[in-house]
Amino acid sequence: PDLIPVIAIDGPTASGKGTVAALVAEKLGWHYLDSGSIYRVLALAAIRRGLDLANESGVAAAATGLDVAFSSGSVWLDGEDVSLDLRREETGNAASRIATLPAVRAALLERQRDFCVMPGLVADGRDMGSVVFPESFLKIFLTASAEARAERRYKQLIEKGLAANIDDLLRDLQERDARDASRLVAPLKACADAVLLDTTKLSIDEAVQFVMDFVVQRGAGRVA
Ligand code: CDP
Ligand code: CDP
Repeated sequence: PDLIPVIAIDGPTASGKGTVAALVAEKLGWHYLDSGSIYRVLALAAIRRGLDLANESGVAAAATGLDVAFSSGSVWLDGEDVSLDLRREETGNAASRIATLPAVRAALLERQRDFCVMPGLVADGRDMGSVVFPESFLKIFLTASAEARAERRYKQLIEKGLAANIDDLLRDLQERDARDASRLVAPLKACADAVLLDTTKLSIDEAVQFVMDFVVQRGAGRVA
């Protein structure tokens, strides 16, 4: 895996990680890993199986046996397309709760590393640069103000036809960021070798260009 180039994009919720990472992957013709969706799908499976989200060994066992597939832009759990359910805020909050459990993170580690195949990978999440792919040649830490992020998430949910309330979103995302940043294992935090990018006042294209400039500067990948 040392030879396979990885770009790690970490940051808080709705900072634009997924959007930017997917576009950078497309430009480079590389694979893309949305690691948050793995935590989300496991949270959904745990809820559906009636598991207590604090039951570490139970949720970790569910992770080991998880029947999940990523294909044609959708995520499938036990053969069912659960893409829409995954995007709900309650699924994100449940994901953040199981993500505090060390045995659960350990159980999901290899599943994430399996995405690292030639010609390269762009991975987004919370611990891509710190834990899952510490050898990444480029680590980006994306942020934006909490207000900008609540606004972005609001628009995204409304577009998908899901219920949303801006005040609840702002409160929830601040709560989730605090939980993600304060957990003992793989907390949300910029690595010492990460490049910080505040996207509060940037368009998606500007954020993508910023990342691409670093990719070129570090000599990886020819731009399509
Ligand atoms: O993956 P993450 O939760 O960090 O965020 P996302 O789902 O990629 O982005 C949240 C929303 O913000 C999306 O609808 C984007 O189109 C929008 N957005 C952005 O990502 N970056 C900007 N500079 C402006 C808006
Ligand atoms: O899209 P958004 O940024 O809101 O969330 P996500 O990336 O889908 O992740 C959902 C939750 O999973 C996060 O709040 C984290 O607690 C957890 N997660 C994690 O712990 N490590 C990752 N690499 C990705 C997600």
